[in-house]
This record gives sequence, C-alpha cells and structure tokens, in this order.
Amino acid sequence: MNAPTEAKLAHQLFSVNPHPQHDRLRKIELSEDAIDGFLEAVKHIDVQNLQYVPFMRFILGQELDRALGGNFGSTISQLAQDRSSGGFTVGVQGVTTNSDDYVKFGTAVGHLLGPSNHDAMSGTYYARFLVKDTDSSDSYLRQAYRLFTLHTDGTYVEEETHWLLMMKFEEKNAVGGESRLMHIDDWKERDEFALAPMGALPFQYKSPGSKNVSATVERPLFFHSKFGLAMSFIDQFVQPRNTTEARFLHDMSASMEQSPATKEISLPVGDLVVANNYFWLHGRAPFEKNPELHRELMRQRGTFAE
Ligand SMILES: [Fe+2]
Repeated sequence: MNAPTEAKLAHQLFSVNPHPQHDRLRKIELSEDAIDGFLEAVKHIDVQNLQYVPFMRFILGQELDRALGGNFGSTISQLAQDRSSGGFTVGVQGVTTNSDDYVKFGTAVGHLLGPSNHDAMSGTYYARFLVKDTDSSDSYLRQAYRLFTLHTDGTYVEEETHWLLMMKFEEKNAVGGESRLMHIDDWKERDEFALAPMGALPFQYKSPGSKNVSATVERPLFFHSKFGLAMSFIDQFVQPRNTTEARFLHDMSASMEQSPATKEISLPVGDLVVANNYFWLHGRAPFEKNPELHRELMRQRGTFAE
C-alpha cells in the first residue's frame, strides 16, 4: 500500500476535532468498526495477563494502532506532547460497556504514549476507584462533596509522571463531579508565583497511608522541562517549612482555583481524558449530595516512550 492511500485510510478510521468544552483539548472520534476490530483482536488477552506482564500492555497498544490504520499512536503522542494542546478525549463510543474492555482500551491508549508507572495504591499499573456517598479514606480522591483542588499527579513518587489518563467506567445518580482542568499558559497570575524565589525552591511531599508510598520526595513548584515551564503541586501533600511558605502555597492554590482558565469538562461513561501532567493541572468539582451516588474511574499514569 502506498503512503497516500494509507493516510486516507487512517483519516477515515479516526478524526481529531476541537473539543467542545475546551479550546486546547481535542476530541478524537474513532470508527466504531475499528473499535470492534481492536476488541476482537485482543479478546484472548485477559486483564490479569496485562497486570502481570508489562509487554502485553504494549501489544494491546499496537493492536489499537493497527485497527486505526497505523498512525493513531504517533498522532496522540504528538498531541499529548504539543505545548499548545497537550490533552484529548477519546472513548469506546458505546461499542462496549464491559469493564475489562474499558481496561484494555485505556491500557492501549496509555501504552501508545509510553510505559505506565506503578500505582502503589492498587499495586498494579492502573487504579480503579469509586466515589460514593460515604467515604472514610485519608485524601480527597474519594470524597464526593468536596472540591478536589487543582494539582498535578506523581508529586510524592520518585519516578516522572509525564501523562495522566482518566477513564469513566460507571456513573449513577451523579450530578456535578466534572473534571476541572487548567493549562498553565492560560493562568494569568502564573508568573507572580513562577518567577518568585519560592517558585523554584524544593518542597517536600509526603503522602498519607492509603497511597502506600513511604518515601519523601523533594520537588520545586515550577521547573523547566522538555515541554517548557512545568509545575508540580498538590495542596494535600506539600509540606511547608514555615508560615511564609504556607502563605505562598495557599495564595497560589487560591489563584488557580479562582482563575477563569480553570474549566469544567464532563466525561461520558466509556470516555477517557489524557493530559500532559507537566503543564496541565486537574481536579474535580463537588458532586450534589445523593445517598445513591456511584461513580467509578480508572487512572493510569506514565512517561512518554523514548
Ligand atoms: Fe490527580
């Protein structure tokens, strides 16, 4: 097959469109036949196999790329590293509602970007977690009725976290709870914090027991990366050494929360969002109170392949 024919075929198998809720994000639509073809090709691979054998996760990515014409992987990888965007949504479009299929689809998308990080909370490369009416955990992750403030992931682990993927598995009796996202180039007051001496100072991060990470990691709030100016911050785990530092962190978090650059994105069941964790911050709007609230998400985090 010659190159122009391949390109034309790929064009028909997926399309990259503007995202209706955020100018910087893209909404990728896939051919439903291609999604079907992918699921058929990987039906012999079970989720336990993916948990135990890291190379199988890449095989899954290759099958998705193949089903979508061979340049889907390079397209999403470019998009996730492109400073002007760095994020997209994509989903199974109702072709399946099976949660194992969701794990496979999310794994394939993630591994077209690169290897996933170990998720110490779940003990494998992804974590599925529930948000419901009551919660007795030790962080905001599963607390439904609180604003989950803007943050980056991977602040308290040694390894790098280039990308973050969140996929919605199930949602019942849920009003609110939208993903909140901010690209740091849209945050007007950013440089008041990024250029302050404290912006480059290493801060200690410690996580609570549920995260199963005992190490203490030091990271600056702002740093230069191959993706340009990057941020590392989460209010719950950063350890200020004095009142001046605490005030700086407090004011910076408040500035991000109040910024008009922080936008809410709704994610249908079966869809996932990928964001570059170096220049996007994410959080969650509070849900409306409902005793029957039930929402399940999967997260994966990783680095870009060399
Ligand atoms: Fe997070």
